[in-house]
Amino acid sequence: MRIDVVTLFPEFFEGPLATGLVGKALARGEAEVGFVNPRDFTHDVHRSVDDTPYGGGAGMVMKPEPMAQAIEAARARGGGPVLLMSPQGRHLTQADLGRWARHPHLVMVAGRYEGFDERIRGLVDEEVSLGDFVLTGGEYAALTLIDGLVRLLPGTLGNQASSEGDSFSDGLLEHPQYTRPPVFRGQDVPAVLQSGDHARIHAWRRAQAVLRTRARRPDLLARIPLAPADREALWSEPSPAAPLALAVAMPADPEALADLAGLAASYALTRAFVVPAPGVAEADLSAALAEAPERAWPVPLWPRKRRNYEPAPIRVAAAERLTVASSFEALAADPGWALVGIGRRPAALDAEVLPPEALRAPRPDGRVWTLAVGPGLVDPKGNPSAFLAGILPSVRAGTREAGLTPMLLAAVLVDRVRGEA
Ligand SMILES: C[S@@+](CC[C@H](N)C(=O)[O-])C[C@H]1O[C@@H](n2cnc3c(N)ncnc32)[C@H](O)[C@@H]1O
Repeated sequence: MRIDVVTLFPEFFEGPLATGLVGKALARGEAEVGFVNPRDFTHDVHRSVDDTPYGGGAGMVMKPEPMAQAIEAARARGGGPVLLMSPQGRHLTQADLGRWARHPHLVMVAGRYEGFDERIRGLVDEEVSLGDFVLTGGEYAALTLIDGLVRLLPGTLGNQASSEGDSFSDGLLEHPQYTRPPVFRGQDVPAVLQSGDHARIHAWRRAQAVLRTRARRPDLLARIPLAPADREALWSEPSPAAPLALAVAMPADPEALADLAGLAASYALTRAFVVPAPGVAEADLSAALAEAPERAWPVPLWPRKRRNYEPAPIRVAAAERLTVASSFEALAADPGWALVGIGRRPAALDAEVLPPEALRAPRPDGRVWTLAVGPGLVDPKGNPSAFLAGILPSVRAGTREAGLTPMLLAAVLVDRVRGEA
């Protein structure tokens, strides 16, 4: 692989590119890094690469002519894509590095001063940012990319497998790592890692990676497909988020109940209760619930194999945990559960409309926040029943929720409370 960096400061790279594994890889010829200096494309006596911004304001801007010629000269060395280092770019990810590592040639453009003339942007293929902060120069970003890329080249890491378990390589954060001694300041190395049982160690590491990603970067977890064993790990380990329960008015329909179980399982809810919808007898609801585990079909978005239609273990387990409550009022009388409905702020009433984030913190009294959805919780004027501990704002401000079933409303609410938590 060859990388050419467009920079005013090629000397910036000398030390880092001669150090450690990257230094060794470059010395062995696994990769080659070259430089193009925009100053070499200036024609005035001062060799100026910057000028004052049109419209006034602080700082200087990199002039387009020397930058453009430098970028074109760098691209001509191998024809690879041009990456512009910029705080306005897309945040760098491991997936980007994997993609770029497949190119035999890359160009990286480092800015200085207050950035580039806007017309430079048309000459590059991608804009890359290290994050939402501002550095003095793009060289820091280019160096970071070079390190991440060279690390992925087949000869760089002694043990190739060691980049495969890295954080992000499979969309998850890496599992915890330990080395000797077996006890450090009273903390033991988990016994499974000392067992020598490679299958168990592999399963433990995968489960730990899934749990750690949920705790620290739930946004990553939402983007990757989870295997049944991953879901089991999430389900068996209580979520670090505040406990949250659900109570929904439901028909006596086993498949709808299995769907509700799937919702409870996906969001690792503490409990899910079902209340008979108007006109439904409690006994019929209980009978339907008994059938729900057998109807707990997964509904794959892209079914590939017929056996995907077998009941999904996570939904079966969740369906077996659904509980019938005779009414919302009866459930609210149980000291374990603090019921929260939805509604508009009733003008005449001092009931508090809680922001969904309020339900991300545990209640000081130990009762579990329980989202309650169904008829009879709020009157037509929006006044909440006295047994509710609070109300959340309507799902769509200014519109009626009549188009959504209680279960769909419950899904929206659960996601508001849990989604970003
Ligand atoms: C002081 S910054 C210019 C910032 C510019 N005024 C802006 O607000 O977009 C100078 C150069 O540092 C580099 N740089 C600064 N922050 C960066 C970041 N977060 N990621 C990548 N490059 C960055 C870019 O090459 C940029 O042109």
